Amino acid sequence: MNRKKKLEPIIQNSLQYDVPSSKLIYKEPEHETWSIMAKKLMERKEQYFCQEYLECLKKINLNPTKVESLDQLNKKLHKLSGWKVQPVDGLIPLEKYMKLITCKIFPVAYHVRTPKEIEFAELPDYFHDVFGHLPLLCNKKFSDFLINYGEIALKYVDLPEGLKFLGNLLWYTSETGLIRQKQSIKAYGGAIITSESECLNMISHESKRSNFVTSKIMSTPYSHLKLQEHYFIIDSFDELSTIIENIENDIRQQFSIS
Ligand SMILES: [Fe+2]
Repeated sequence: MNRKKKLEPIIQNSLQYDVPSSKLIYKEPEHETWSIMAKKLMERKEQYFCQEYLECLKKINLNPTKVESLDQLNKKLHKLSGWKVQPVDGLIPLEKYMKLITCKIFPVAYHVRTPKEIEFAELPDYFHDVFGHLPLLCNKKFSDFLINYGEIALKYVDLPEGLKFLGNLLWYTSETGLIRQKQSIKAYGGAIITSESECLNMISHESKRSNFVTSKIMSTPYSHLKLQEHYFIIDSFDELSTIIENIENDIRQQFSIS
């Protein structure tokens, strides 16, 4: 059975939201939190975010004052990139995430954080997923990186060390990735983009920044519950293709798989 056929049920299921529609209706306090966060993000975007993100953010034109409806998002995102979004209940298992992204379906947490969590939320919420991750799906190089990552990662779901490494890879790119641009360091990772504290931390003396070296990210632990201690920098999005091209060799070498 080819990959497309195997994944057909996932695609079908994902096109029907498995979250009750009542949970996808947002009320005034949620619009308020969303607009506060969007305003802050817009104020810091030129200083901290990479060019590719800024270009995609302009294209996708997310609503900064009201929570975007999933239907509206899906229409815009699909037209621009071929991706769709699937609402999920918070964090999902890495394997499910991988299956979805290989089908160009991006899982988004549907809940909007509470006002108390404006500065920091332990779990991803709708704002984080929408502003942090969706714009870059409209960038072909980044989109290809994620799809290829998912396809390779699915081969290693039964190898715990391999999965751990793939988890690190996703964290140090899609969530906390930095890129060199115009003689400065900018963010492309969603966890930085949606957090003012991470933006300040990424250039502070409190944190460490290194060039992206696969063996190094394999051995660098992280926590999503606190500010990052270590960030990894790429030189361009082309580097993401090179990382993906070498990733299977890296896994095989690291874990002595023939
Ligand atoms: Fe995220």
